[in-house]
Amino acid sequence: MPEILAATAVAHPNVALIKYWGKRPGPGNLPATGSLSIVLGGLATTTTVTFDPALAADEVSVNGAADADTAQRVSACLDELRGLAGNPARARVDSRNDFPTGAGLASSASGFAALVVAGAGALGLRLPEARLADLARRGSGSAPRSLYGGFALLRNAGDGTTCEPVADPADWPLEVVVAVTTRGPKPVGSRNGMAQSELTSPYYPAWIATHPADLDAGLAAVRGRDFAALAELAEHNCLKMHAVMMTTRPPLIYWSPGTLAALQAVRELRAGGVPVFFTIDAGPQVKAVCLPGAADRVAAALAATSGVIDVLRSPLGGAARLLSPGA
Ligand code: DP6
Repeated sequence: MPEILAATAVAHPNVALIKYWGKRPGPGNLPATGSLSIVLGGLATTTTVTFDPALAADEVSVNGAADADTAQRVSACLDELRGLAGNPARARVDSRNDFPTGAGLASSASGFAALVVAGAGALGLRLPEARLADLARRGSGSAPRSLYGGFALLRNAGDGTTCEPVADPADWPLEVVVAVTTRGPKPVGSRNGMAQSELTSPYYPAWIATHPADLDAGLAAVRGRDFAALAELAEHNCLKMHAVMMTTRPPLIYWSPGTLAALQAVRELRAGGVPVFFTIDAGPQVKAVCLPGAADRVAAALAATSGVIDVLRSPLGGAARLLSPGA
């Protein structure tokens, strides 16, 4: 009787403080720029991978459903793992998020981080962290960052990337308040959006040219625990990315009216002395990053902001982990 192999892993979504937008040419889903992120320990993706020789094809389900593009990316990742293990069995993948999927909360990052950890665990593969990160990146460019806890740095290196932890949550226990302004999937996925930006935004070359300085300064701010410097820089880097998005043809406007209202609320809080800054990804949610003592006030202000339909709170979290190896 052929063996059924299963494992479950948990990974947390991450938010980039210094972002990537754009790919390098060639295979491997290589980002054009580096990035620096934090993981949100209060939100989680749990993924079970079951390799079953009786299956004729991979079966992928994300919160009970999955689009063809995601299923194809998952199968490509599993193909690599099958090749490494010398096991051709197809797999059932069941992935669940406890937060809104596809709306700028980086479910693909935590999804692919959990997928590679669970897939490798099920197959009994003991892969070096760098190999897991490479596999996760092929699925989603931001996924290697979700393999690590706390602050993670993803950098271009030669014809690949490296990803490393920069600080633990305990080293600098920031809190994140997410202002949810719209539910539902984003209109244009990151991958297609980036390709269009590269082709059509006149600001794309400036984004690429100025990015290394942002990344170096962001890293220095995290290492020096300099919240004021990080706040100014992260907001600048975020708005520069959105300027590229908005000047793409056709335009990529991920914001809703509530996004702008939440962004202004964060700016007003900071002007009033509250240590908080905003960041926004390819979606309408605003992530307010704050020093721990400020999170109550930030959450209350955002909950009272017009267009904000929900507020989620999260401390920083730990690395992706295997829950249940074996069948
Ligand atoms: C705006 O990593 O989701 O969140 O590789 O196509 O899955 P794919 O892209 P993805 O892009 C993330 C873009 C971003 C910025 C960031 O997280 O750095």
